Amino acid sequence: MNEVELKFHLIGRFKLSKNGAEAKDGIAGVIDDANKNILKKGAPKGRGAEIVSWGVDDTIMVEIRSDRYVRAHDALLRLRKPLAGALGKYRIGIRGIEVEKFTITIPTEKPLKKLKIPFVRSMQYKSGNILLELDITGPQIEGRVPDRIIALIVDKIKSQKYGKKEHWELLWASKEKTPKFTGDPTQELIKRGWIKHGSCRGQWIFGSQITKVFRTFEQIVEEEILKPLGYHEMIFPKVVAWDVWRRSGHAKAIYPEMYYVCPPKTRDEAYWEDVIDHYKVTLEVPLDMIKEKIDKPIGGLCYAQCPPAWGFLEGETLPDDILPICVFDGSGTSHRYESGGIRGIERMDEFHRIELLWIGTPEQIAEHSKKLQKRYKHIFEDVLDLQWRMAWVTPWFMAQEGLGGLPEKKEVGTIDYEAFMPYSKKWMEFQNLSNNGDKYPAGFNVKLQSGKELWSGCSGIGLERWAAAFFAQKGVDPNNWPNKFRKMVGDLPDVFKFL
Ligand code: SER
Ligand code: ZN
Repeated sequence: MNEVELKFHLIGRFKLSKNGAEAKDGIAGVIDDANKNILKKGAPKGRGAEIVSWGVDDTIMVEIRSDRYVRAHDALLRLRKPLAGALGKYRIGIRGIEVEKFTITIPTEKPLKKLKIPFVRSMQYKSGNILLELDITGPQIEGRVPDRIIALIVDKIKSQKYGKKEHWELLWASKEKTPKFTGDPTQELIKRGWIKHGSCRGQWIFGSQITKVFRTFEQIVEEEILKPLGYHEMIFPKVVAWDVWRRSGHAKAIYPEMYYVCPPKTRDEAYWEDVIDHYKVTLEVPLDMIKEKIDKPIGGLCYAQCPPAWGFLEGETLPDDILPICVFDGSGTSHRYESGGIRGIERMDEFHRIELLWIGTPEQIAEHSKKLQKRYKHIFEDVLDLQWRMAWVTPWFMAQEGLGGLPEKKEVGTIDYEAFMPYSKKWMEFQNLSNNGDKYPAGFNVKLQSGKELWSGCSGIGLERWAAAFFAQKGVDPNNWPNKFRKMVGDLPDVFKFL
């Protein structure tokens, strides 16, 4: 961001309580000093902002040109206090700031597509630059809106040039293992009648056999992880309000991939009577009528699982001696509006996940992550006998905010666990494990009594993903399953027969 050579041109006005002509000399003095000192402070020699013209009547008009060092809108704010000082002698007050013209020039190799951005009047591409014409006034300048607009555009220029760089770096890989099965696990599960499509997109109804396998996975998690590592169960909400996603960062990018939750506009039976009658007569659910009668979305269905848990800690101060805290939730489904194309049980709109969440000092977070990694390794090697690997990737909390790359602190980030899928010869992510740094305590304003840094980590264990990995390598015939696991599962129930 810093390397970008921005140029600013701003014509602003300070509204006065009465005509300011009598203060003209004092104002001239302030402008003179500003051009030498105030508007150059913090900038390298010869850089910063410059008032190129000014005038006074019922307002003080200033025309400012600047580079990236003292941005013109910052320059305008810097002028307020000294001007008020010069005006005070004459009992003239400043009543507000207006912006008549604000143009920002941002270099780019290629034009951006047409965009609708708040407070941007126009956006033109001219010989290697984007010219932004802003439509703002004082409150937006004070609220730092121009900086956020610039950051947004610079971000779009960068991702147009480099794409979103998803980081991926191999950390460890298991031995190659000869698969017992090479088919598509979803097809095999359908063929055996273990799963059937649900009525919704990307949703399955899981029969008793596969459910027993899921429950065995959960039992493994309980015995190998939750009990020995001292986890306590919680129940996290499964409808998530916007405020949670504002704090977690999801509000920046989640829109194309979330399931929206809309309440009715009213609970009043009479309000809904026409919908009810319409259905009774036509036997069709009148979607257009319903659309008019439901309210704006209050948020969406559970997406990342851990964010809504933080409401429990929001605004609290924790005593140091209760750390580290380890909690988990397995109380419900997660939902994502996945991109098209059927991906079987590997990629679903509705899925089941055990979410582990640990909170502590940076050292405790790192130490716990190591312990978990050891436990996972034991499970995937000795219990499930998978061909798998671990990779250091763009952390989920950045990816879900639409960001690429890696965080500044190198210990913060996500390990993806990937399994080899013999039928497609591709690797599939089947769970993750993250050090989330101070992101959540900061976002939800949670503090430690000692004032020391508070960090957190989380790990999502996707039951369908474990199943997809396991069945893809071992198939669904228990005879081909590793002994220990087969014994844990026991006999598979055979409930339904279809004629
Ligand atoms: N919260 C993490 C994620 O969404 C782990 O489940 O990936
Ligand atoms: Zn999480």
